[in-house]
Amino acid sequence: MKNQESIELLIQRNSMKLVTSPAPSDEELALAFQAAVSAPDHGALTPWRFKLIRQENIAKFAEFAFNISQNSDNPLPEAKLAASQAWLSEVPLIIAVGCHIDYSNTKILESERMISAGCAVMNLINALQMMGYGVFWSTGIATYNEEFQIGLGFDPLDYRFMGFLAVGTPKVPIPKKPRKPYTDFVEEWVMPQR
Ligand SMILES: Cc1cc2nc3c(=O)[nH]c(=O)nc-3n(C[C@H](O)[C@H](O)[C@H](O)COP(=O)(O)O)c2cc1C
Repeated sequence: MKNQESIELLIQRNSMKLVTSPAPSDEELALAFQAAVSAPDHGALTPWRFKLIRQENIAKFAEFAFNISQNSDNPLPEAKLAASQAWLSEVPLIIAVGCHIDYSNTKILESERMISAGCAVMNLINALQMMGYGVFWSTGIATYNEEFQIGLGFDPLDYRFMGFLAVGTPKVPIPKKPRKPYTDFVEEWVMPQR
């Protein structure tokens, strides 16, 4: 079978929340982002957008996010706040993800653009994990707050903010989760009887 080793790496992908320095190098990021922008894309709209929040800006990002979440109608409970602050304080790279809504195209549904941006994120995650990095996709803290979205450069008038990836070197070996057998989700189609 061709490329079985690469496919095994896809099968073994697992998220890793606990990460620390070092972050991927610029050379590694370039390769991973090139994989991201190779995602399927109906109408060649290139809807994916990424913002890099480097280590030196993560404390500011965290302060911004937690201020918004704690002043919202739905603040994090004390323990969750402390745990999330401790988590982010060790993360060396955040990649915020947005889907650009190009209003000049009226044919391709917003849902398809979001799927395409999601596929780009998946390529990015897979590439980074194949290089040995840990990645965790989160839509927590202030993700659904408009002020936060605007602050990240994803004004909801033009973008759908899709959360952020925490990226870095795994602090512990990435656990291998048992996955359900694919046969639970795949079946042969048969023409319905009329
Ligand atoms: C779009 C998206 C947003 C997510 N947001 C969160 C989140 O806010 N909090 C969380 O605990 N897990 C979140 N997850 C799930 C984790 O990223 C991760 O997929 C999950 O813990 C399962 O681990 P696995 O990827 O190794 O199967 C999100 C996943 C996706 C795809």
